[in-house]
Amino acid sequence: MKFFIQNRNLENQKNSCIILAIFKNKKLPYTTKMFDKISAGYIQKTIQQDALEGNIGETLLLYHVPNIKTTKILLIGCGNEKKICTYQYKNILHTSIMALNKTGTTNAIFYLTTLYIKNKNFYWKIKQAIEIFQESLYTFNQLKKKTKKTKEKIQQITFYAPTNTNLIQGKKAIQHGLIISQGIKIARDLGNLPSNICTPKYLLKKSYQIIHKQQSTKKITIQTIDKKQMQKLGMNAYLSVSQSSYNPPIIILIKYYGKNKNTFSTPTIFIGKGITFDTGGLCIKPSVSMYDMKYDMCGASTVLGLMHIITKLNLPLNILGILATSENVIDNKSCHPGDIISTLSGKTVEILNTDAEGRLILSDVLSYVEKFNPQAVIDIATLTGACVIALGHHYTGLISNNKTLANKLKKAAKQTTDKIWQLPLGKEYKKQLESKFADIKNIGENAGGAITAGYFLSYFAKKYPWAHLDIAGTAYNNVGATGKPISMLSQFLLNTSYKNYK
Ligand code: BES
Ligand code: MN
Ligand code: ZN
Repeated sequence: MKFFIQNRNLENQKNSCIILAIFKNKKLPYTTKMFDKISAGYIQKTIQQDALEGNIGETLLLYHVPNIKTTKILLIGCGNEKKICTYQYKNILHTSIMALNKTGTTNAIFYLTTLYIKNKNFYWKIKQAIEIFQESLYTFNQLKKKTKKTKEKIQQITFYAPTNTNLIQGKKAIQHGLIISQGIKIARDLGNLPSNICTPKYLLKKSYQIIHKQQSTKKITIQTIDKKQMQKLGMNAYLSVSQSSYNPPIIILIKYYGKNKNTFSTPTIFIGKGITFDTGGLCIKPSVSMYDMKYDMCGASTVLGLMHIITKLNLPLNILGILATSENVIDNKSCHPGDIISTLSGKTVEILNTDAEGRLILSDVLSYVEKFNPQAVIDIATLTGACVIALGHHYTGLISNNKTLANKLKKAAKQTTDKIWQLPLGKEYKKQLESKFADIKNIGENAGGAITAGYFLSYFAKKYPWAHLDIAGTAYNNVGATGKPISMLSQFLLNTSYKNYK
């Protein structure tokens, strides 16, 4: 889809649809009044006769409005004009694009850009609109031979900018919104692919495709750590998960030199859990819990989507994106419950549950990245069912050893409405991980399972500011992969790089 922004009236375009707001109790904003005047009161008259009240969720499509050259006008209920919150604005955007998509129009002119949303500027409104439009229209049909024929699809949306300053802000918002939406699409597509296609090797192939397509002025490299190198390094926690896999594990490292071509100093590091399928290992999952475990690589797909965004935005930061890929399957070589391994850090771990595999692969990567002297390390993982119980599907869980970093992430989450909620890293939870036979064990009790998983990771993330994002509840839902929390992480990086884009 293409997006434009203009600051003159655009009602002369043929075969398009004008999207206008109507507030609660049939009140019209000035933009809608403008068109009502041209139509000699036709819009006002129609509304009075219709059940449309102007509440959020309501829409009304008008055809051949007098004196208006476009074929259609779509009225969107926007509720109380002074009290539209960000959550409602998102709803309004979703309702608008779904209603528009049903009309079979190819071009639309969007006048809801003048809505007042508390504490939000024009840039935010447009960027949000692009992300929501693309998210709402997303489909995944690549594995269907026959796809249903639908009406003509919307191809082009032009936003109305009331002022020249808005025009400049809007153009930046379109650029950023489009790039971020592309990254989200990359992550959703990979998340939705089944594990017989999306293997560690496939993720490597995609990484090359996506990164090499970029025509960035910055230096970008891809390196890998394969099974042999892992053995040499002593990444035994990582290896324990895949010791029975036909598809070998690969750690994919994507380095983006945004500061300087020659040195890779103090990078920000993102580590994504990339379990392409999680059977649970010998502690096998019941089938009802196993069927959606193709999504267990959504941390890794988040990182790849994010690396696309970083390179396209040309950010002035050094960033290392790591896809920690592996399978968790079974055969006679599988890790046994009770096995004790020595991790890259030297700490020994008693693997009491082979289904707590995410923390095992992440622990060795967390130790590995110490050598980069990172500014911050953020891991993103579908780590625990307990996090889904705690927060449901709307908030990503956050655990961190650094207040400043946690606050930056929380701020970005608030800005983007891609939400996160911090869980404590309290010493009280330490006891649960004590092992009779090794330094620590890889599971605690059921109670506080998302926290003990984070606590386990914290043992390996002692040397730098670290944050852990548990996306088990947010990375996918009954529709499929969501691409969360890419929007939030992109904003975090935009905030780190620039002052203006919020
Ligand atoms: N990948 C799962 C976590 C998960 C569960 C993600 C549900 C998405 C939805 C993880 O590897 C796992 O199996 N965790 C166990 C940990 C337990 C054995 C301590 C869990 O949550 O049951
Ligand atoms: Mn598991
Ligand atoms: Zn898992």
